[in-house]
Amino acid sequence: MARGGPSGLFISFEGIDGSGKSTQSRLLAERLSDVLHTREPGGSAGAEEIRTLLLTGDPDRWSAETEILLFTAARRDHLEKTIQPALQAGRTVICDRFADSTRVYQGATRGDLRATVDTLHDVMIGREPDVTFIIDMDPETALARGLARQSGEDRFEDMGLAFQETLRHGFLALAKANPDRCILIDGNREPAAIAAEIAAHVADRVALA
Ligand code: TYD
Repeated sequence: MARGGPSGLFISFEGIDGSGKSTQSRLLAERLSDVLHTREPGGSAGAEEIRTLLLTGDPDRWSAETEILLFTAARRDHLEKTIQPALQAGRTVICDRFADSTRVYQGATRGDLRATVDTLHDVMIGREPDVTFIIDMDPETALARGLARQSGEDRFEDMGLAFQETLRHGFLALAKANPDRCILIDGNREPAAIAAEIAAHVADRVALA
């Protein structure tokens, strides 16, 4: 999608299930004045409906290929209806997960579908965040935390510890491959310490409260 005109800063948060990224994205949003805090899958009316299809039910409900299409469809709607208008209005957008989650969850865990994910992204999304915080976390602690929440949206958490280990390595590889955009954050610390580090990175680009 074309950017055109002055644009707000687009920040995404990524990490394995239970890594604390939702808490951290919220804490950052609280420190910014003109901010849109949103999430994927979801963030627009249509995409929230697709979210329910994706996150509830049997772990084998969708093939990996179908899942990629559904996540991309949700992302396209989210981008058109929510993210792009906010950026064009000069607002900062903080998004809990974006395309990196599809690259790692669908692209690198069940067969080698990364090229498919990238092709579809180029055709249908064509936009990366300006900054991505990847919260790195011990998978065992993170999984216990995620399942304890009993959100009813545990389709991916239900895939187990080995899956979360694979995801962690996927995110680490992504951070290494995209040093200009991705900032790796040690999530095995007190939330306040993590939030302070993240805020310091953002303070270089947007005014904080
Ligand atoms: P999320 O709501 O961020 O859950 P949590 O706060 O527990 O991390 O994400 C929901 C699930 O969807 C999560 O298990 C990751 C998965 N997911 C994908 O597999 N691919 C994607 O492209 C996205 C955006 C999420």
